[in-house]
Amino acid sequence: MEISGKVAIVTGAGAGIGAALAGRLVAAGARVVLADLDAASAADVAESLGPGAVAVGGDVADEAVIRAAIDRAEAEFGPVDLYFANAGIGGGAGLDSTDQQWAAALEVNVLAHVRAARLLVPGWLERGGGYFIGTASAAGLLTQLGSAPYAVSKHAAVGFAEWLSVTYGDQGIRVSCVCPMGVDTRLLHGGLVPPEHAAEAELAVKAVTSAGAVLAPDEVADIVLAGVAEEHFLILPHPEVLKMYRHKGSDYDRWIDGMRRFQAALRA
Ligand SMILES: NC(=O)c1ccc[n+]([C@@H]2O[C@H](COP(=O)([O-])OP(=O)(O)OC[C@H]3O[C@@H](n4cnc5c(N)ncnc54)[C@H](O)[C@@H]3O)[C@@H](O)[C@H]2O)c1
Repeated sequence: MEISGKVAIVTGAGAGIGAALAGRLVAAGARVVLADLDAASAADVAESLGPGAVAVGGDVADEAVIRAAIDRAEAEFGPVDLYFANAGIGGGAGLDSTDQQWAAALEVNVLAHVRAARLLVPGWLERGGGYFIGTASAAGLLTQLGSAPYAVSKHAAVGFAEWLSVTYGDQGIRVSCVCPMGVDTRLLHGGLVPPEHAAEAELAVKAVTSAGAVLAPDEVADIVLAGVAEEHFLILPHPEVLKMYRHKGSDYDRWIDGMRRFQAALRA
């Protein structure tokens, strides 16, 4: 997919990976709607990017907000070619996570993707193409020590992206699933697990930061756009995740034993 001249929506674009993606997209010649719960941050980032970027505020798990972003894109720039379902949140910690924490993680990390695809795919089928890029996480292929809702909701995001690609790939719809490990953003530094679960919050951050390099959001955005240009399904900013995923698939029991040992070492 050639990015220049395309119209994109990026959710969670007020900060972190989403802001970097929006910046790289505009630099590559796309026009972008930045959507974020934090309307002021999205507006600031959009303003810094110039006339190729506009902002929409609101919760992107809310169908009305997704529709408003699509309408804004069409009014400003034309039909949406690429949708980056990037907004994501941490969850609770373990079995004591509340129903509310589970629901919030599933809403933002999964159902926001489903609702966006539901609105966009019919138009993409009519026009003969479109590209859906979901930001999941290495936690969606492996696990997230310290947070059951994050691990599970990210697995579901991977599962939805797979399903979308298998179901619509023959009709011109492209799908990528982005699965980073550590990225230097607010989410990593205090957002994965609520601070009142201090031990689990520390475990979650240590697990991510000790497993590999913590990348800058711009580095991740470059890798994502290169993956989109080549239309790869799985985009792994940390290539070692592929080895870990293969290890999991080749011997699940051994992988679980290894994860238990890793967790015990981090807690010690
Ligand atoms: N940072 C990491 O280490 C890491 C690793 C793997 C995956 N990810 C994933 O990358 C994505 C981006 O995370 P980030 O690290 O840039 O986090 P971040 O917290 O820096 O940025 C996330 C942005 O999304 C916005 N947002 C949150 N909920 C929203 C909602 N319901 N509607 C609209 N906007 C919302 C926030 O306001 C924020 O601006 C997430 O899906 C996250 O799970 C991050």
